[in-house]
Amino acid sequence: MSGGIYSKPIAFAITATVVILIGTSVTMFYPMMTVQMHPKLDSLKPFTALELAGRDIYQREGCVNCHTQTVRPLKTEVMRYGEYSKAGEFAYDRPFLWGSKRTGPDLARIGAKYPDAWHVKHFLSPQSMFPQSNMPAYAFLKDARLDPEAVEAHMKALGFPYSPGEIQALKEKTDMDALVAYMQVIGAAVKKTAAPAVAAGVIKETHIPNPLANDQKAIARGAELYAKECASCHGPDAKGDIGPSLVDDEFFYIKGDLPDDDYFEVINNGTSEGSVEDGRTARGGMPGYKDSLKKDDIWSIVAFLRSKKAE
Ligand code: HEC
Ligand code: HEC
Repeated sequence: MSGGIYSKPIAFAITATVVILIGTSVTMFYPMMTVQMHPKLDSLKPFTALELAGRDIYQREGCVNCHTQTVRPLKTEVMRYGEYSKAGEFAYDRPFLWGSKRTGPDLARIGAKYPDAWHVKHFLSPQSMFPQSNMPAYAFLKDARLDPEAVEAHMKALGFPYSPGEIQALKEKTDMDALVAYMQVIGAAVKKTAAPAVAAGVIKETHIPNPLANDQKAIARGAELYAKECASCHGPDAKGDIGPSLVDDEFFYIKGDLPDDDYFEVINNGTSEGSVEDGRTARGGMPGYKDSLKKDDIWSIVAFLRSKKAE
């Protein structure tokens, strides 16, 4: 074939470029501008002023160098961290803080996992709770006051609407308050797996006895596990700290202790606000150990707690 566009290299190159660009625009840039490409979960709320301030501190302190904020849809990740991340969760995240390095655990599901007091204690000194942790302490955050002007500047840059009252209220708050508030909102748009639905006031009719009750070996193992997993919240001698005493005569804020299998269930499933155990209502904040402890481990801890109570 002679002549035509094939014999004019420059015209050919220009035409080819134009045709490829049209193809690229239609298949790539156009879909990028459509709403479907920018999903937002209905339950997602914009950050409050305090949470946004906390997010700034998260960036400033480089937490992203050690923590990711995205759970991949892999079985192992979902078992460890919870529901995998959805695109629609991040509509207000500018920039994204997904990260790529996990020196510490993923934080995409950290919101509501622990009580505020847990985070404060952990930021003051991670090693006081996990002796081998290599996370630095952030105790200085508790003495640093927020700067409302700086938060306002960020809010304007990101296009979040806050009232002057909301901005001024930050004056009373510390960097620590802000970071904790931010921790508690991460992942809040995605529902946690619901606690088993039992109505308040319904009392169990049968109880399963602890198969390891009074077993000396189990009690020793329980003591070891307690020190590692539970002491940071319930105190070294189980008399209470962030969580309630486990050796008194109260359970879920009501006088009168409950049987061993209720202990087992609370330790196994954890609690969320309003979850119910044997007729009593929880306030939330107790993590579940279903995925990290074996049944015998949990019964051993219960046997240990009973031996402490009998002391
Ligand atoms: C040098 C790496 C490193 C840095 C920097 C770091 N962390 Fe950590 N983080 C860890 C490690 C390791 C753990 C696990 C042990 C522990 O809990 O202390 C952890 C645990 C955590 C946990 C508990 C997670 C869970 O599910 O139990 C939170 C929350 C957390 N870090 C938040 C932060 C925040 C916020 C910052 C920034 C102010 C930060 N970390 C900076 C390494 C780091
Ligand atoms: C992150 C802090 C935290 C850790 C770690 C933790 N707990 Fe708890 N625990 C709590 C909180 C907070 C409550 C109150 C729960 C509620 O009201 O929903 C609680 C409640 C309980 C209860 C109900 C007791 C009562 O008298 O009301 C038991 C039993 C319990 N925890 C046992 C354990 C055991 C055993 C471990 C270790 C395997 C453990 N907890 C680890 C925070 C924690």
